[in-house]
Amino acid sequence: MNTRKVSVAIYMLMIICLCTILAGCSSRQDTAEADHDVAEDDLIVVGFSQIGSESYWRNANTESMQSVFTKENGFRLIFENAQQKQTNQITAIRSFIQRDVDYIVLAPVVETGWDTVLSEAKEAGIPVIIVDRQVDVSDDSLFTCWVGSDFELEGMLVCMWMSKYFNMRGIQPSAIHIADIQGTLGSSAQIGRTKGFKHMSQLYGWDVVAYEEGEFTKSKGKEAMSEILASHKDVNVVYCENDSEALGAVEALEAAGKKCGSNITKGEVMLVAFDGVNEEARAKVAEGKISCIGECNPLHGPRVESIIRKLEAGERPEKYQYVTEGIFANTSDIPSVMISGQERTVTVITKKDLQ
Ligand code: AHR
Repeated sequence: MNTRKVSVAIYMLMIICLCTILAGCSSRQDTAEADHDVAEDDLIVVGFSQIGSESYWRNANTESMQSVFTKENGFRLIFENAQQKQTNQITAIRSFIQRDVDYIVLAPVVETGWDTVLSEAKEAGIPVIIVDRQVDVSDDSLFTCWVGSDFELEGMLVCMWMSKYFNMRGIQPSAIHIADIQGTLGSSAQIGRTKGFKHMSQLYGWDVVAYEEGEFTKSKGKEAMSEILASHKDVNVVYCENDSEALGAVEALEAAGKKCGSNITKGEVMLVAFDGVNEEARAKVAEGKISCIGECNPLHGPRVESIIRKLEAGERPEKYQYVTEGIFANTSDIPSVMISGQERTVTVITKKDLQ
């Protein structure tokens, strides 16, 4: 063989080896893909329609859901953020039905308007789990179960805390000029907290000066507070329906030269709120700028997971599952509050707790 023929032979041999190696790789890849497919087939597919990212609470809730519905845990999560719009949630649910998910989880932005789309899910045989806020539907077989907070109770507990505080300081009900910065109108969190507030403020005889919508956001809370200050100079207590709104209200009050705090007899403006998951809001409690926060627990991921595991095991979970929640405050003067036999402990947040 001449040198040229030897080089051609070596070249051909190299090509054959390369093809063999590539063929090996591709068959290994095929097997890996097949393994991957088998694993994917075993996953429980969950379509979650989240309201949006309007508050610190909402972000903590999203994280809780995403940390549970993972592949390692046996799930495939299809997450849709509705940007606070019910129409986006309806579109998301329809896409979950088309994709034939195993479960639909819905955190509904408002209570009404769900009958049609939930009937479509029922017809498709997909169980729907409602989380956080509730739905107001004509037929409650349109959803499997609900887990979340008792928003009305939260509202009443915070009002009772305030009433105890005013009594201890000898402040008369007629001296309370209180405004309510409401959450997203028509949402369970707003409906329940406003209802609790109306009931208790009437019971105690407080002077309610205004209701203003704050949409559960810091920026709207700030705007609402400025509106209230413009027409009600005498306001000395503000009931904010979440702590994002309260942070905005603090900014508006301070910009107007007011001092936030519990000492309303000395001209301070008392703020109360809900949630208690955000460090900034907790720090405001420790500083005394927010006096009391009714806890609203966002960690629903493990709760929804446990419902799905029960359904997978052929069990029937309880239809309504209420989470037990407490209260946070900046003083130990009121150790607990009790409404209709439900006692809730008050946890004091100090600056040391936040370090
Ligand atoms: O539905 C729960 C409420 O929604 C939380 O209190 C609020 O922060 C959130 O946006």
